[in-house]
Amino acid sequence: MSPTLARLSPVDATWTEPERALLRRMAGSDILSIRQFAPDELKTLLDVVERFERVTAPLLQGKVLGALFFEPSTRTRLSFESSMTRLGGGVIGFADVQSTSVTKGESLHDTIRMAECYCDLIVIRHPHEGAARVAAEATARPVINGGDGSNQHPTQTLLDLYTIRRRCGRLSDLRIGFLGDLKYGRAAHSLIEAAGALGNELVLISPPELQLPALRREELSEHDVRFMETEDLDAAIPGLDVLYVTRIQQERFGDPLEFERVRNAYQIDITILDHAKPTMIVMHPLPRVNEIHPSLDASPQAAYFEQARNGVTVRKALLSILLERLP
Ligand code: NCD
Repeated sequence: MSPTLARLSPVDATWTEPERALLRRMAGSDILSIRQFAPDELKTLLDVVERFERVTAPLLQGKVLGALFFEPSTRTRLSFESSMTRLGGGVIGFADVQSTSVTKGESLHDTIRMAECYCDLIVIRHPHEGAARVAAEATARPVINGGDGSNQHPTQTLLDLYTIRRRCGRLSDLRIGFLGDLKYGRAAHSLIEAAGALGNELVLISPPELQLPALRREELSEHDVRFMETEDLDAAIPGLDVLYVTRIQQERFGDPLEFERVRNAYQIDITILDHAKPTMIVMHPLPRVNEIHPSLDASPQAAYFEQARNGVTVRKALLSILLERLP
């Protein structure tokens, strides 16, 4: 243990009781779905994340992250790598599945059994829904879901919520519009669940072909979430506090013709702000294709690059919590 680490107490006396309870519960555990966190816990977790804005100590020295990316990624992989490296840890893994024994037919279970010998925590991104859970069942090491098919992307949701709270000053009683691919987009699916549970009103804006799947809609109704569905972006804009734009998920369409029909369904530019509240923020998990014109980027209301930056703080906190190395 380095002299710096020796000075750090495992659970600092300044943690509040709800923070301590959450930190104890999360230590050594997995993050597979945003549903794992009750609304109160989400708020507490973001308070913990806030503290990591100032943490630079090498808390994760000697720890190794396994970053197993079976699907393309820029932000998620690089921000996990950056977080681990900035806290003094190391990273192994792959971003190109073609370079692995998966091409020889190795199962996900066996790949994980190997990876756990080489690292202390695993982040996995995979095209199949439920793959992160399969990985978690194969190993005692903590597993973080970095996106499984169209299902979930919980760490994206945490950084989205963190951004919303910093920008809007609260996490509840907002009207949040979700625009674009609500059928296949996992970032939207996770955030819709969390934002609904936190007591926000949701406006789901998409072409009919890309509406939120029926099961997810029923879940919102069962939990008494206030939501409406529309195709009409212009009519929705004036009432929104947040507009969460998403990419049409080309890779998840079974039929290329179906994609062609909706690929340019919505394209917004700086003029969208003419009809919006001056405080409305525009978010996007990125990457964007053509759904947000770069003319919007310089506006103080554009929050998408800030989201990407917040991803490092959020992931620094998550890695430290799961690996039980707290400041
Ligand atoms: C998203 C993803 O991979 O689900 N990107 C991200 O992680 N920031 C969104 C997308 O690919 O459209």
